[in-house]
This record gives sequence, structure tokens and C-alpha cells, in this order.
Amino acid sequence: MNTIIAPSLLSANFANLENELEMINNSQADWLHVDVMDGVFVPNISFGIPIMEVLKKKCYKPLDVHLMIVQPERYITLFKDAGANILNVHYEASTHLHRTIQQIKAEGMKAAVTLNPHTTVAVLEDIICDVDMVLLMSVNPGFGGQKFIENTYNKVTQLKDLITRKNAHALIQVDGGVNLETGKKLVELGANSLVAGNFVFSADNPTETIAKLKAL
Ligand code: DX5
Ligand code: ZN
Repeated sequence: MNTIIAPSLLSANFANLENELEMINNSQADWLHVDVMDGVFVPNISFGIPIMEVLKKKCYKPLDVHLMIVQPERYITLFKDAGANILNVHYEASTHLHRTIQQIKAEGMKAAVTLNPHTTVAVLEDIICDVDMVLLMSVNPGFGGQKFIENTYNKVTQLKDLITRKNAHALIQVDGGVNLETGKKLVELGANSLVAGNFVFSADNPTETIAKLKAL
């Protein structure tokens, strides 16, 4: 399968948002990854619904929304209405994950669960068949431009094994420190989707960088 490339808006130039979105629209990006941070679940605050409303109007790619917020279940309908196509909630932030996943699907969105670097893939045993995607964090969430955590390679292998053993259909997405080198290994191990922020938006030619990731 073709790797799904999701550039992360977090590293975009917000003074030039319209141009950045035009670049995404005209690129081979499959989705736009949107990082929402509340300053509680992670030590940073990014953006919320007003920016989502802009994306909904100006971005023609599906919005892959990564919620780094506590109690994400409170905001499912709000993000649906704001244009989210895929909603990622953190395992560590969801007390009743099964219910939250069902609510996301009931709103007509794809449901994904995200694991922090310290959270073992084994916790997904009883939820893997219910989710459309698992997002493995390969940095501690909160900031773009961090160094890739090597143990993520093992986690991709473990997750792929779990999906096969359970006959599940979840996609494997990886987020943090993705570049051509880490991305290549991740795809070889079975990752279906790569999120890349800094590597895309700080490149001299972001469109070409997206194409290179797509070709991995
Ligand atoms: C980190 C975010 C990532 C971030 C990735 O908390 O979830 O999506 O933008 O940025 P890079 O690719 O620069 O590591
Ligand atoms: Zn993210």
C-alpha cells in the first residue's frame, strides 16, 4: 500500500497560512495533520477550533486531528463540526477509551488511538479491532523538531504483530522526528502513515520533500 503522508501543520508558517495550505493542496500530501494542545496534557498550547474553521475552508485534504488534550470525549462533536475527518485521542488521556472510540465513529469520523513513547503496545489488545488507526508517538508530544526515539521501531513491529494476530484492520501511523531515513525504516517495518512537521516545513522545497516521503 502507498504510504499515507500527513504533514504536521504545527511547523507551518502561521504568518503565511494561506500559502502553506495552498502548498499542501497542490502537493502529494494525503492528509493534513493538525496538532491540538491544551497546555495540560502536554506542556504546550497550540491552536483550536478557530484555526480548524480556516482549515476546513482552505484545505482540501482530509484533516487528521491529533488531540493532545485531557478528557477528549468532551470535544468530539465540536471537532467533527469544525471539519475533522480523523480524530486521534491519546490512550493516556482517555479513561473510557472504548466509549470514546464508538462516539468518534458515531459522528462519522475515523477513530484513532495514540500511544505516548512510554506506553506499551500491549495495552491495545482489547481495543485494536475497534480502531481505524493507531498513532505511535516517536517523540514526547508537545513540540515539533525533536529527535526520533529509536524504540519506536520495535513498537511498529509489535503493533503489526498484534494487528495480524487479531485479524484487525487498523493502520499504523508514526509521529515525531520523521525524515527520509527514519521514515524508510518505519515503512519497511509496516508503518502505513507518516506524520512529518519540521522535515517538511523547514525544507527548501516542501512540495518535493512530501513527494520524497510519499515515494518511500
Ligand atoms: C508533536 C506533534 C507532532 C509534531 C511532529 O507533539 O504531535 O505532530 O508536529 O513534528 P516533527 O515532525 O517536527 O517531529
Ligand atoms: Zn501530532
